[in-house]
Amino acid sequence: MAIKEKQLFQTMFLLATFIVCVIEISNAQIQRVSDDEWEMVEKKGNQFIIGDWPFYVNGFNTYWLMIFAVDPSTRAKVTDVFQQASSAGLTVCRTWAFNDGGWRALQKSPSSYDEQVFQGLDFVINEAKKYKIRLILSLVNNWEAYGGKSQYVRWGKQAGLNLTSEDDFFSDPIIKGYYKAHVKNILTRVNTYNNVTYKDDPTIFAWELMNEPRCLADPSGDILQAWIEEMAYHVKFIDRKHLLGIGVEGFYGSSTQERLLTNPNTYASKVGTDFIRNHLALGIDFASAHIYPDSWLSSTVSDSYLQFVESWMEAHIEDAEKVLGMPIVFGEFGISSKDLKFNLTFRDEFIDRVYKTMLNSTRKGGSGGGSLIWQLFPEGTDYMDDGYAVVLSKSPKTCDIVSLQSWRLQNFNSRCSWRCHWGCRKRGHQDVFDYNGEL
Ligand SMILES: *[C@@H]1O[C@H](CO)[C@@H](O)[C@H](O)[C@H]1NC(C)=O
Ligand SMILES: *[C@@H]1O[C@H](CO)[C@@H](O)[C@H](O)[C@H]1NC(C)=O
Ligand SMILES: *[C@@H]1O[C@H](CO)[C@@H](O)[C@H](O)[C@H]1NC(C)=O
Ligand SMILES: *[C@@H]1O[C@H](CO)[C@@H](O)[C@H](O)[C@H]1NC(C)=O
Repeated sequence: MAIKEKQLFQTMFLLATFIVCVIEISNAQIQRVSDDEWEMVEKKGNQFIIGDWPFYVNGFNTYWLMIFAVDPSTRAKVTDVFQQASSAGLTVCRTWAFNDGGWRALQKSPSSYDEQVFQGLDFVINEAKKYKIRLILSLVNNWEAYGGKSQYVRWGKQAGLNLTSEDDFFSDPIIKGYYKAHVKNILTRVNTYNNVTYKDDPTIFAWELMNEPRCLADPSGDILQAWIEEMAYHVKFIDRKHLLGIGVEGFYGSSTQERLLTNPNTYASKVGTDFIRNHLALGIDFASAHIYPDSWLSSTVSDSYLQFVESWMEAHIEDAEKVLGMPIVFGEFGISSKDLKFNLTFRDEFIDRVYKTMLNSTRKGGSGGGSLIWQLFPEGTDYMDDGYAVVLSKSPKTCDIVSLQSWRLQNFNSRCSWRCHWGCRKRGHQDVFDYNGEL
């Protein structure tokens, strides 16, 4: 009798909790639909969240948006990209918040900006919001395109500094000062389209210190590590609200000898970066890695590319989960049509493999936070194609694959709220969030 009563009580208790949770879910969903508020993305443990909701990312890169936004004759292309991306369900775009020196420079010389170009960036941010797309804004380039670290070093030389290598970017105090000033100028910019200061704008998903930093001058990685630590502190000092990533390609370094074989080649561990050590820097909120079998592996298009995708992603997701305790975003992945054996079918297979490997983590509530295709172009910008451009309107099959991934992630994002962990498990979603009610 006593046992039966206890069982009955338990059943009723479970039922009551279930009902409360269902109500909570529907309230939250109603709120979500009717709530016009555009909230900041945050991270909780190894996941991204918006309010109480998980936020898994299907995203894309289009690096030149600011430049196209400057000129009224090309500005419509910015809108086109956002429109097409949003209709394929993409929610995050990674783009450049820099153009140092040269044609249509944002920063003409240290801390001297072209107001028209800055208004181009304002436009991009304001326009992204209209399509409910958030931005990862990268703050400088490792490479020469759009200025990059070598432009900073040239400015230093012009100012009379005795600099010998472009990697002095990472160590010279004056050059570091130029970069810090740029960071501050961007983060404190007031958008001329909406009067929102960048550092308060939820349209910005995250800041990224640099696109693909490498410091060949110091294979030990100490110099780059010190730079990351200093700059992460600097960004967080100005802006505590936004998430911060580094932008590294994700090569393993000497801090994890056992992982070196995961690297695509032996050179990768000698470029001064170290996936684990770099991301342990204070202030870094999420991990990043890129996926380029075509330029990293010596073979041409083949199954080895797909195998690489899986082992590379799985290793990084596992490390993000178990070692770093943060989400990971695969900030760039792509395959170039310049590869002799390239064809669209293979590209689709490649994209699909990235997505499925991501979903394997998402299903388990793992660290795989999202992936961003390199790169989405609207029609009529083909002349800028470096071989990696994906034009959704011209590749219906690819568009289907991208949309399906967006739809799947959207399901995870709206299935259950963080407040309602028990109810979600109870309703058969234990494969999504299995954290036993512990946040
Ligand atoms: C510039 O720096 C290099 C290496 O640090 C040094 O060898 C050289 O003497 C310096 N030149 C001047 C003019 O200070
Ligand atoms: C921004 O603020 C200025 C000064 O308060 C005001 O004149 C202007 O109308 C505002 N612009 C927008 C787009 O809200
Ligand atoms: C596309 O490329 C892959 C890998 O090289 C190859 O196996 C496949 O046969 C190609 N398909 C077409 C339709 O050319
Ligand atoms: C996903 O996980 C399943 C089960 O662990 C595995 O069989 C499959 O190969 C994985 N797929 C990818 C693309 O990683």
